[in-house]
Amino acid sequence: MRVYHASSYNDMCQKAANLISAQILLHPQSVLGLATGSTPIGIYERLVGGYNQGELDFDGITTFNLDEYCGLSESDPQSYHYYMNDHLLSKVNVKREKTHLPNVSTGEVEAECKRYDDLIEACGGIDLQLLGLGNNGHIGFNEPGSVFEKNTHCVALDERTILANSRFFNSLNDVPSKAVTMGIKSIMHARRILLVVNGEAKKEILEKSLYGPITPMVPASILQLHPDLTVIWSAA
Ligand code: F6R
Repeated sequence: MRVYHASSYNDMCQKAANLISAQILLHPQSVLGLATGSTPIGIYERLVGGYNQGELDFDGITTFNLDEYCGLSESDPQSYHYYMNDHLLSKVNVKREKTHLPNVSTGEVEAECKRYDDLIEACGGIDLQLLGLGNNGHIGFNEPGSVFEKNTHCVALDERTILANSRFFNSLNDVPSKAVTMGIKSIMHARRILLVVNGEAKKEILEKSLYGPITPMVPASILQLHPDLTVIWSAA
């Protein structure tokens, strides 16, 4: 495990964008695993900047997102489909058919989870998975108590996650209570993992994740066992 201490949110984003850019430059056919939330926004801004400056080419890149809320349409501004288009996918030359998020609109959740896992495998697996860290130690939407052996599946969101994510919605009641997420097993199969964490409020859970006991009660603690984990942490 490599842990980099960034001096600020901007520095964290720059370092992370550098690593993702290097992946794209060295392996232009890479499969990237992507995350949503507040933390990666500045990283996506920098990747879009790299594309606009002619430094990055997304033509051969395939993307798979970690998760999507159940019950929101793709055009809902709170959906992760919308977020990804808004922050990255519509702003670079990635081929639309090579960008993937769980499709929760089918109503056939189990079949969709299997389709998603099969597609990841058919694309050769994820080369670099970007992750944020939940206040409760979740990765993707694998909440405390999640079993480590799952691939993509449907989850009930933890109360702390609903509360934390309510900042993006009009009210707490508007936050979906379920989501489809890649499981811990799917995440651990990625060849490289890049975990980005910022804010003093996440310091304790990050320390537990990286140096505490490996336990389903702190889902991110499993990352200690990943052979190629890079963590970029910024207190500010
Ligand atoms: C997002 C995701 C979540 C977030 C985590 C941190 O796709 O899977 O695990 O990475 O909740 O969110 P922020 O960055 O908003 O603090």
